[in-house]
Amino acid sequence: MRIAFVGKGGSGKTTLSALFARHLAHSGAPVLAIDGDINQHLAEALGSHGGPGETSAAPPLGPHLDEIKDYLRGTNPRIPSREAMVKTTPPGRGSRLLRPLGDDALHTRHVGRAGGVPLMVTGEFDESDLGVACYHSKLGAVELYLGHLVDGPGEYVVVDMTAGADAFASGLFARFDMTFLVAEPTRKGVSVHRQYRDHARRFGVRIAVVGNKVTCEEDVLFLKREVGDDLLTHLTHSPWIRAAEQGRGGDGPSPLSSLSSLSSLEPHNHHALNVLREAVDAHPKDWPALHRHAVEFHLRNARAWANAATGRDLAAQVDPDFVPGPPALT
Ligand SMILES: Nc1ncnc2c1ncn2[C@@H]1O[C@H](COP(=O)(O)OP(=O)(O)OP(=O)(O)O)[C@@H](O)[C@H]1O
Ligand SMILES: [Mg+2]
Repeated sequence: MRIAFVGKGGSGKTTLSALFARHLAHSGAPVLAIDGDINQHLAEALGSHGGPGETSAAPPLGPHLDEIKDYLRGTNPRIPSREAMVKTTPPGRGSRLLRPLGDDALHTRHVGRAGGVPLMVTGEFDESDLGVACYHSKLGAVELYLGHLVDGPGEYVVVDMTAGADAFASGLFARFDMTFLVAEPTRKGVSVHRQYRDHARRFGVRIAVVGNKVTCEEDVLFLKREVGDDLLTHLTHSPWIRAAEQGRGGDGPSPLSSLSSLSSLEPHNHHALNVLREAVDAHPKDWPALHRHAVEFHLRNARAWANAATGRDLAAQVDPDFVPGPPALT
């Protein structure tokens, strides 16, 4: 299951991505965290919120986009070269489909660890990497990766996304099973909700609002009033998170190692993480629908700029009888 954390700048996307990934890993579930933000802070957050855990860096995806394209297109005859492959190009027969954290070349090369959690990073990128009309988008590597990933129930890929509406500017958002919109209880915090919700509904993408840094009952009421039933749960303003941020171990002078598990996180916030997981697990993946939306995005992308950029008709890349999913692995 692929999960994105989106929201306004500073709302807590990175913090909640890290906490959620830690929470899943702690339960023994297979989890891969991906840093898909312009500024790469997820490794740091996983490290500090996780306490001392295994940490090792791996090469970022972004600068290796060309090799990643070559690897994923495999022997797919509809994609004769890396130049013909754009970020929305869907897999077809001959493409390499990946299992989460599999022993394939891509995972072997690009998965590092932070705070004991497997982590892939896009590498820093800038504004020019965002938006639809971008051939060399570093985020395109994540989009292609998710497009070729065959993940099952109980397997989690957690992606920390860029702030604001950029997360919805590409087809990437259609690749997720669940998008969590992290919102502080302020007008600014909820301002993107309606736009996201309408966009998500159009493409059958599940979205839920996760309140963050809540300090009182009025905050919860505000969020309910503004986003209604989309409010899934909330995390309170957390001394535990603040302490981790400051490199302290909890409230007292205890050593950092007391943060080595999430067991000392406030019970309410711990419960909220469980609610997130249950929400993800509540709906099985619908492979044909996921693929249909991805193809729709590809065709739109092709018309908008990619046909012109590659000098080809990229609609021809769609393999009409192919649906990525467990049966396509064999
Ligand atoms: N529930 C919380 N309680 C206390 N502090 C929090 C909480 N959630 C986030 N923070 C703090 O808020 C700040 C911003 O959080 P974070 O970096 O996760 O936001 P972000 O949405 O990823 O920001 P950006 O848009 O810059 O990537 C950090 O200092 C973080 O420690
Ligand atoms: Mg962040």
